[in-house]
Amino acid sequence: MYRLLYPLRTYLIVSGRFGEEVNVMAADWVTVVSAKPFIVAVSIAPTRYTYHLVKKYREFVISVPSIDMVNDVWIVGSEKGPEKLKKTKFEFVHALKTMTPIIKNALANLECKVIGEHPYGDHVLFVGEVVAYSYREDAFRGGEPQLGIGFLAHIAYDKFTTISKEIITVKR
Ligand SMILES: Cc1cc2nc3c(=O)[nH]c(=O)nc-3n(C[C@H](O)[C@H](O)[C@H](O)COP(=O)(O)O)c2cc1C
Repeated sequence: MYRLLYPLRTYLIVSGRFGEEVNVMAADWVTVVSAKPFIVAVSIAPTRYTYHLVKKYREFVISVPSIDMVNDVWIVGSEKGPEKLKKTKFEFVHALKTMTPIIKNALANLECKVIGEHPYGDHVLFVGEVVAYSYREDAFRGGEPQLGIGFLAHIAYDKFTTISKEIITVKR
């Protein structure tokens, strides 16, 4: 009953090499592992096309989509392999440090090199060091997420939502 941990934010995992082979899948099971150095992890099932590209090139990009990209997120989260990308509006551009491209207009792109992997149950946890990142200033003004931009969260199956604009500042 992993849904007990939902809603979770939804991300895009870009894999492959710019101009050669590129794929994208949706992923909820993404987490920060370390701040310094900046290390993240994503759980990818071996049945995914993405799994094979991450194994092959030892790198991946985590792209942060906004709610207005939800239809394309659904396409890459429900169909297998690069053919599906023709149905999306994703535009790929060169990354700063990886051969895996980043998605133009995503709220942020985190370029990761695989530093570890381990199978757990029906998924493989890929641990990646973030070797470069870029983001939209309007989405992370002053380094803080701007809720009005529409961060994407997943409820279940084909149901998504966005983070409320309500902010509660606690007494310290
Ligand atoms: C919102 C959403 C979140 C998902 N999260 C994950 C995830 O964290 N890990 C995973 O292996 N699959 C996840 N999936 C499933 C893959 O995105 C899906 O199987 C996709 O078709 C794989 O594409 P590929 O075979 O081209 O790599 C998710 C699907 C959706 C719709």
